Amino acid sequence: MKTYKIAAIPGDGIGKEVVAAGLRVLEACSSRDGNFKLDVADFPWGSDYYKAHGVLMPEGGIDELKAFDAIYFGAVGAPDVPDHLTLWGLRLAICQPFDQYANVRPTRILPGIESPLRGVTARDLDWVIVRENSEGEYAGQGGRSHRGLPEEVATEVSIFTRAGVSRIMRFAFQLAQSRPRKLLTVVTKSNAQRHGMVLWDEIAREVANDFPDVIWDKMLVDAMTVRMTLNPGSLDTIVATNLHADILSDLAAALAGSIGIAPTANLNPEGRFPSMFEPIHGSAFDITGKGIANPVGTFWSAVMMLEHLGEASAAARLMRAIERVTADPALHTPDLRGNATTEMVTQAVCAAILGANE
Ligand SMILES: NC(=O)c1ccc[n+]([C@@H]2O[C@H](COP(=O)([O-])OP(=O)(O)OC[C@H]3O[C@@H](n4cnc5c(N)ncnc54)[C@H](O)[C@@H]3O)[C@@H](O)[C@H]2O)c1
Repeated sequence: MKTYKIAAIPGDGIGKEVVAAGLRVLEACSSRDGNFKLDVADFPWGSDYYKAHGVLMPEGGIDELKAFDAIYFGAVGAPDVPDHLTLWGLRLAICQPFDQYANVRPTRILPGIESPLRGVTARDLDWVIVRENSEGEYAGQGGRSHRGLPEEVATEVSIFTRAGVSRIMRFAFQLAQSRPRKLLTVVTKSNAQRHGMVLWDEIAREVANDFPDVIWDKMLVDAMTVRMTLNPGSLDTIVATNLHADILSDLAAALAGSIGIAPTANLNPEGRFPSMFEPIHGSAFDITGKGIANPVGTFWSAVMMLEHLGEASAAARLMRAIERVTADPALHTPDLRGNATTEMVTQAVCAAILGANE
């Protein structure tokens, strides 16, 4: 029997609640499947750890994670710790050294869930957003001088490298090619940003030559928000920079019903380092501790983790279980205008996995 080593990092806020739920669902997947086990180690890193130790994760933490097959992450961020410290101290401190350059965010309208867009159904909205996850606007380049003085200056420099843009374009074209519609939209802002974004467009055109069967087009990011809202059926696979895709994927999640259902895979596609799976939402201070966080995004992220580990049939079984549960409005949490709790949804998904009789 195969055993996968999983590092669980629940982090902060509802991250703790949804990862605990996700681990129960994964346990149900392994016991229903019978062909693999999960050996889970829990890491108490995040804002509480920072308040006790002055760092979000210990020195050498990244080396500890190298031994794992995958990382299952919740969220990081606390009301009393600056967000740039928490994000750079934990989530980006893992994504960057592990070169998880492809951030993959599927969005579709699951059974039983209504889009806020009138008349839009699952047939019209089935997207995968590929976010460049290693450079661009979040490369960490920049600085501040003359702090506190009237002449204070801060720079935030976007970095676009030929290597970084080429590999994410290739990844996106391959993903588009593997989907039935073979359709890719390259999001850009090369009208206003005339250096990095023009390189981005040029490389898209070059890489496209190797994928003659993929139909692709280019969209300015501002116009993209309009197209996502008014003509969702015209989109399939989407590739965008770190910042643009960060914003567009929250919009995508909302158009598919709730940010609580949206998953993410942070992939190191070559497998040199562990990849990391997490819901796209944050620690949601407003609902922390209330037991009403929607765990579906974390469960869907577990589907992506099982796929990545090569457990395709367990992944498909979990996705079917999620869809069976979302189909029942009595199992919708308040973000979907229901009254269900995290616990009710978790129990129902576990029961659907264990009772799956395919
Ligand atoms: N990947 C991450 O770790 C990550 C991502 C985004 C934000 N954050 C951090 O989280 C903190 C809060 O950020 P924010 O408020 O901008 O975004 P958020 O995603 O935490 O919350 C936005 C809104 O969506 C709701 N929401 C989010 N997830 C939900 C779920 N599973 N079920 C039901 N409702 C849900 C929240 O209640 C809130 O009203 C900040 O510290 C931020 O830096 C972390």
